[in-house]
Amino acid sequence: MSQPAPDVIDLLGYRIHVGPWLLEQAGRIAAEVAPAHVYAVITDEHVGPVAAPQVVGSLRHYAPHARVILQGVTPGEATKTRATWQALTDWLLGERCGRDTTVIALGGGVVGDLAGFVAATFMRGIPVVQVPTTLLAMVDASVGGKVGVDTEHGKNLVGAFHQPAAVVIDPTVLQTLPPAEFRAGMAEVIKHGVIADVGYFDRSIAAARAILGVPAAEVDWTAHTLTRLVSDSVRIKASIVAQDPREAPGGIRQSLNFGHTIGHAVEGLMDFRVPHGHAVSIGMVLESALGETLGVTAAGTTEIIRDRVRSLDLPVDLPSGLSVDEVAGACRRDKKARGAKAVFSLPARVGAMAVSAHGHGVSVESAAIISALSRA
Ligand code: GLY
Repeated sequence: MSQPAPDVIDLLGYRIHVGPWLLEQAGRIAAEVAPAHVYAVITDEHVGPVAAPQVVGSLRHYAPHARVILQGVTPGEATKTRATWQALTDWLLGERCGRDTTVIALGGGVVGDLAGFVAATFMRGIPVVQVPTTLLAMVDASVGGKVGVDTEHGKNLVGAFHQPAAVVIDPTVLQTLPPAEFRAGMAEVIKHGVIADVGYFDRSIAAARAILGVPAAEVDWTAHTLTRLVSDSVRIKASIVAQDPREAPGGIRQSLNFGHTIGHAVEGLMDFRVPHGHAVSIGMVLESALGETLGVTAAGTTEIIRDRVRSLDLPVDLPSGLSVDEVAGACRRDKKARGAKAVFSLPARVGAMAVSAHGHGVSVESAAIISALSRA
């Protein structure tokens, strides 16, 4: 049976391709948009064995005169450091790579951010093709050009905007993703629904419940509903980034931070033992509650978000042991904070964000955060 044509999203000056079996087309797409003498595939040691053979094979097929080199990093957020960036740039230098090199970032958000930052800085910038392999990276990290590494002071504090030459998303890869990681990725999908599209909010949650409700072997990973789940999310993100590519103060790209001020606070206070998607789920529920308390968010919005997040077995409450005072303090230290006040992007209701005279960020006093979180 022939496969449906992939969805192509072209809102950002580069194409984002979404469709089954596209891993085998990654070489063709890279050769078209980023011709190179060397393709440097950066992946991790979990993804490499399952996805690198298709990508490397495709590069060899479509760019037969190019050299293809491969490097796997240790999976996990702890790898996203300046030390790994140094090791990877030293690897490229040792391989005598020059500006005629294209990086292929094959993996989840950690690989995408790290390999993208390598590409942004190596020889003052070389192309990167993002090939995300987790739901979270497909719908969020691979699109929009934010790349970087973490430091002991926090996440993504050293980085750049470096838009990819193309993004290649093959939803069939998700069949090898642990269901818990699929659930965690749904947090960013739900976020896009809350920000921009109530119909997508309902449709995507129903699709995810159907996928998660049966064993992975019974899911049709080539189904158009899965491609649509991913491509509709990408379209929402891309249309927001297109309006505000570098996240200007108060700009619309800040709306993508919904759930992330509290989410990042929870991740940091828990030393990253809480997965990003879980922290964002908790953050969306509590930030919506904050919005209701401030009169910015329609009454009942929090209950809807809480119910849907829970229906996917994602957490809705602060991890035990974390106090609301600690969370409010960490929100104030977030990189989005202005002066001593935490900044939040809050929904008006499911499907639309609140915009004030100051744009998309609302600055909030600690006392108001503590009072709202204590009652949520
Ligand atoms: N992940 C939020 C953004 O790309 O702006």
